[in-house]
Amino acid sequence: METMIEFQHICKSYGTQVVLNDFQLSIEKGAFVTMIGSSGCGKTTALKLINGLLIPDEGTIRIEGTDIQTMDQNVLRRNIGYAIQGSVLFPHMSVEQNIAYVPSLLNRRDRQRTRDAVDQWMKIVHLPQELKDRYPWELSGGQQQRVGIARALAASPDILLMDEPFGAVDSITRTQLQKEIKAIHEDSGITIVFVTHDINEALYLGTRVLVMDQGAIQQYDTPDQIRSRPATDFVRQLISGQQQAAG
Ligand SMILES: Nc1ncnc2c1ncn2[C@@H]1O[C@H](COP(=O)(O)OP(=O)(O)O)[C@@H](O)[C@H]1O
Ligand SMILES: [Mg+2]
Repeated sequence: METMIEFQHICKSYGTQVVLNDFQLSIEKGAFVTMIGSSGCGKTTALKLINGLLIPDEGTIRIEGTDIQTMDQNVLRRNIGYAIQGSVLFPHMSVEQNIAYVPSLLNRRDRQRTRDAVDQWMKIVHLPQELKDRYPWELSGGQQQRVGIARALAASPDILLMDEPFGAVDSITRTQLQKEIKAIHEDSGITIVFVTHDINEALYLGTRVLVMDQGAIQQYDTPDQIRSRPATDFVRQLISGQQQAAG
């Protein structure tokens, strides 16, 4: 299997606080990695290191073998979709303008192609076409989240980073969005790194689940292995929480 993203000996501190210490992780092309762990353990930090929003103090991050520090940062970010919790939409832009933001920058001369792309992405995330001209404040939380995902996907990135993207929506919408993102992953072969604090979500979505605690990897395994062979007490506790939730 080809490696898409690689963390090599990554150290990252904020002031005197060490968040990641000699962090090593290899993510296969086409994987759906769900990242779960205690609050403040460094999940968001790890995600932002992938798209260059943060720079490691030590170590190297490679995408398809290339050290991202040697890449044009605009090219890097264009290739990586980033969706986070809550509305990150441009408030003064319509749904269509929000989704088209990246493609229209890339091909300003081809308006029809941009419009077609917006239609296509709205369909994929199950947004009715009649919402196209609405502004973010005229949408429900779930719809805003869908627009955010459509926008992140609209640039056809190779990698999609999602930081607790469904944290703020109700549980029915959440279940629908989970199904949609899982289907999008299966159809597109895109590599997804998805942070969540919900073990059920992590086990349902992930082809690989990364369990972190205090900057250290507790286990990085398939959902089945996480369930049947928890590597540490921390993982065992997470799983027992999951069984309670299920039962
Ligand atoms: N910009 C920052 N300046 C100082 N400390 C930060 C900053 N960003 C995050 N931290 C701290 O680093 C730790 C890891 O943060 P983060 O990666 O956001 O954790 P997680 O996403 O797992 O909850 C936390 O203790 C957080 O308070
Ligand atoms: Mg976070």
